[in-house]
Amino acid sequence: MLEKSPIKSFKRDQAISGSITVAGDKSISHRALIFSALAHGKSKITGLLEGEDVLKTAAALRKMGVTINQHKDHWEVNGSGVAGLIESDDILDMGNSGTAARLLAGLVTPYNFTSFFTGDASLRRRPMARVFEPIEKFGAKVLARQNNLMPFAIVGAKDSLPIEYKMKVASAQIKSAILLASLATKGVTTIFETEKCRDHTEIMMRYLGLNITTQDFTNDGKIGTKISYSGLQEFAAKDFVIPADISSAAFIMVAALLVKGSKVTLLNVGVNPLRDGIIETLIEMGGQIQLLNQREVGGEKVADILVEHSQLKGVIVPQDRVPKMIDEFPILAIAAANAQGITKMSGLAELKVKESNRFAMIVDNLQKCGVTIQANGDAMEIKGGFVEQKQLIQIPTAMDHRIAMSFYIMGMMMENGIEIDDSSMINTSFPNFFEVLNSSS
Ligand code: S3P
Repeated sequence: MLEKSPIKSFKRDQAISGSITVAGDKSISHRALIFSALAHGKSKITGLLEGEDVLKTAAALRKMGVTINQHKDHWEVNGSGVAGLIESDDILDMGNSGTAARLLAGLVTPYNFTSFFTGDASLRRRPMARVFEPIEKFGAKVLARQNNLMPFAIVGAKDSLPIEYKMKVASAQIKSAILLASLATKGVTTIFETEKCRDHTEIMMRYLGLNITTQDFTNDGKIGTKISYSGLQEFAAKDFVIPADISSAAFIMVAALLVKGSKVTLLNVGVNPLRDGIIETLIEMGGQIQLLNQREVGGEKVADILVEHSQLKGVIVPQDRVPKMIDEFPILAIAAANAQGITKMSGLAELKVKESNRFAMIVDNLQKCGVTIQANGDAMEIKGGFVEQKQLIQIPTAMDHRIAMSFYIMGMMMENGIEIDDSSMINTSFPNFFEVLNSSS
């Protein structure tokens, strides 16, 4: 494990301004590497997130025989075809990345070999049964620690069988694990996605010319998607241009909304409609945010986002918006703590199984900052405003990059500041976080 690297954050008077490019989209980066690894020919990937999480996916694919080279301004992947992976002779280390672990577990499901996976202390606590269940239906065998925890092994299916699967959790990682398993599985795999969540895998498959069908269906009054894919379709390599990550942009957006005089343009940000819940919510809170220069790149919606300092007010976040902003609740909580009035959020059970128990980390840490916050089951209410503390507030981050970045920004609002216990995990998703915040004054 990396050395812990504590960092202090104090009240910021300097406005955040100018044009900023945040790091590449983490979800799309993992997927671009994986699909390039299965294509025929060479793919050039520009804008790849060079954060620890994505580097773990690249390392694992290399271990399975794929040639991946990093160049100055792009990455090149020489694909081995849809059924072209080979057994890794070592354990695949997923580091802190739930996405790498779950997507790659799906990917190796239809291969006639065995793969061993592990991760860091945070990932070894996270639930994996959610992918084991569909993986086993394809015919693979799974061996894991008690409670289905990492490390685990997947004995791939010799002749995998297509499945029909109704999703129980709104999770793009589960959906994508199934779609990746279906790639090298003969026959039609069908997923009933009962609550829509990010569709980068489906968009990428279409971009690559794969014949995937999606249609809306209604389940318990909610509109979901029925997704079908017939495996063993081969495809040629294509180049990828990865947009900036809206989940990273969200930190700068909130920082700019909170720090007086700020006016910043975030360039080239992915604004996939199943990821943009944070923009919708911050606008409802009174945030001055405009989407400029909207366009499409590789099937993904992209825009430049103009954000200006604004007085925010509390809102109620509708439950059905939760999957569209699942990673943004830590930073939304900071916005809410600096808004006027109460912000109510519910349906947050999934926050408890992220890189940390984010639900508890938000509640405990905001309380340390003198914020009034009430939690009940999977709901919380944050009352805007805080009581200045007499000394530096000590904030544990529990190996969670988004908790670290969120409370660093909270510190920018507090006279006596905050010390977060570890900033090293920020490298997993947003390696240029500090550079971006400091260059933008
Ligand atoms: C991701 C899906 C989300 C998200 C994670 C990335 C993905 O997880 O929290 O950061 O790339 O598919 P879940 O699918 O578990 O909600």
